[in-house]
Amino acid sequence: MSRHTPSMSVMVAAARKAARGLQRDFGEVENLQVSLKGPANFVTAADRKAEKVLFEELSKARPGYGFLMEEGGVVEGSDKSHRWIIDPLDGTTNFLHGIPMFSISIGLERDGQIVAGLVYNPISDEMFIAEKGQGAFLNDRRIRVAVRRELAQSIVATGIPHIGRPGHKGFSAELDLVMNEVAGVRRMGSAALDLAYVAAGRFDVYWEANLAPWDVAAGIILVREAGGYVTDLKGGDAMLDTGGILAGNEALHRQLGTVLKKAHKPA
Ligand code: IPD
Ligand code: CA
Ligand code: CA
Repeated sequence: MSRHTPSMSVMVAAARKAARGLQRDFGEVENLQVSLKGPANFVTAADRKAEKVLFEELSKARPGYGFLMEEGGVVEGSDKSHRWIIDPLDGTTNFLHGIPMFSISIGLERDGQIVAGLVYNPISDEMFIAEKGQGAFLNDRRIRVAVRRELAQSIVATGIPHIGRPGHKGFSAELDLVMNEVAGVRRMGSAALDLAYVAAGRFDVYWEANLAPWDVAAGIILVREAGGYVTDLKGGDAMLDTGGILAGNEALHRQLGTVLKKAHKPA
């Protein structure tokens, strides 16, 4: 069983409330697929609504904390040491296409350090949570990163940077090398869930470039509290600043790091 701090209870309650709207709206997406306007505007509205619920609930419970949100950007708080980092809907493309693989992601930063993280898939009702020093949990069951030590037996998750964004061009070279070394590659479409799956040992290791802080803040502490390693793509700690991430157990983290480096060496 997990022992929540009051802050985690606040995060769980806010996520569950926002999830109810996303569940309803996701149910509507199928009907909208056939409408002339298409569901894109509808999904943007669903996204904004979810963020509003999270903002209201968290502000009520913790007045003064600041926010960094995908839609609303930065909201300065009077309490300068605490900040929520929020993606109300991670996996928008999946949502838009009626694929039930998306999440709400909430990270809590204290004095520049992530101290709590929550990633919730409202469709599978899987709640991944972690707090510093307390371990990581999936629906109250303790989770740990996978124990596999050979890349050849591992499932590797990744994300493809959008066209025109840094990392897009170099991605094929990386994939080309990685796919020859591993048991399988997955591109699930929600970075927050990718990290949660690494924490739960479902994915053995994961890398992606060009992410935003709200994609990874919660997932980073999930993986670390599940016994895993998380760094940026250069092996440093600047995930939130560089947008690069590499996560897995110690052995696979190191091995995948070596393969990725080769992709950027001139031939
Ligand atoms: C996206 C997802 C996706 C990742 C993209 C992100 P969004 O977030 O996390 O897996 O590959 O880079 O932008 O737009 O669905 O919130
Ligand atoms: Ca989003
Ligand atoms: Ca996102």
